[in-house]
Amino acid sequence: MTIDRFDDESALSAALATYVLEQIVVRPSLVLGLPTGRTPLGLYRELRERSRGDRIDWSRVRTFNLDEFAGLPSAHPASYRAYMQAELFDHVSIDPANIGFLDGNAVDRTEECRRYEDAITAAGGIDLQILGIGANGHIGFNEPASGLRAHTHVAELERETREANADRFGGQWRNVPECALSMGMATILNATEIVLIATGAEKAEAVRGMVEGLITTRLPASLLQVHPRVTVMVDRDAWSS
Ligand code: GLP
Repeated sequence: MTIDRFDDESALSAALATYVLEQIVVRPSLVLGLPTGRTPLGLYRELRERSRGDRIDWSRVRTFNLDEFAGLPSAHPASYRAYMQAELFDHVSIDPANIGFLDGNAVDRTEECRRYEDAITAAGGIDLQILGIGANGHIGFNEPASGLRAHTHVAELERETREANADRFGGQWRNVPECALSMGMATILNATEIVLIATGAEKAEAVRGMVEGLITTRLPASLLQVHPRVTVMVDRDAWSS
C-alpha cells in the first residue's frame, strides 16, 4: 500500500480530483468505481467545478457505485443514487446510460446483485475504484464479520453503520434501512487500481488496522493489503502516528 498524507481534507480532495481527471483525459472510456458518504463530498465538489463548461468530456466514462440501501427507490432523497445525482452526475457530461447503480428497490435482490456483477464484467472491470472507510473498517457495506461475501450481495447493516448514515434519514438511525446491496470483497479487489480516502480522527484506528494490522474479516479494509495497487489518501487526523 502507498500512503499519501495531506494537511487537510481539501488538499486531499484536490489531489484526488486531479488524478481522476487526468485518468479520464488519458482514457476517455475509464470505468470508475465510486463511493458515497461524507468523505468524498470534497472530491465530487472539485470534479464538478473543474468539469464546468464541458471542460472535461465525461460522455464515455462509465461508473459503478459501491452500494445502495435496500427498499429505497432510486428517486428517494436518502438514496445513494440521489446523492450521486446531486453531488456529481447532474453536473458533468456523463451519459446516463453509462451510470451503473444497484437498484435498492429491485423485487428480486439476488437477481439484481447478479445483474450488477455481470454489468461490471461486461464493462471490462473497474479501472479505478475509489473507496471510503467506515470507522469499524467496513468498505462499501462489507461489515466486520467472521466471513465476508466475495460478490455483490444483500448486506445487513451494523447499528454503528446505520448511525453513521442517519443524517440522510432525518437524523434517526432507526429510519436507516437494515439492509443494503453492496459490491463484495472480490468485486472491489478485482479493480485494477484502488484509492481509499479517509479523513478525521474517528477513522484513525480503522486506517491503522487496515495498513499495519493482520488481514482479517473483522476489519474488511485490511483485505486491501493483498491488492497490488492500493493508495491510501489520509488527512492529518486520520493518520495519527
Ligand atoms: C457508508 C458507505 C461507505 C462509506 C462509509 C464511510 O456506510 N456505505 O461506502 O465509505 O460509510 O462514510 P463517511 O465517508 O460518511 O464516513
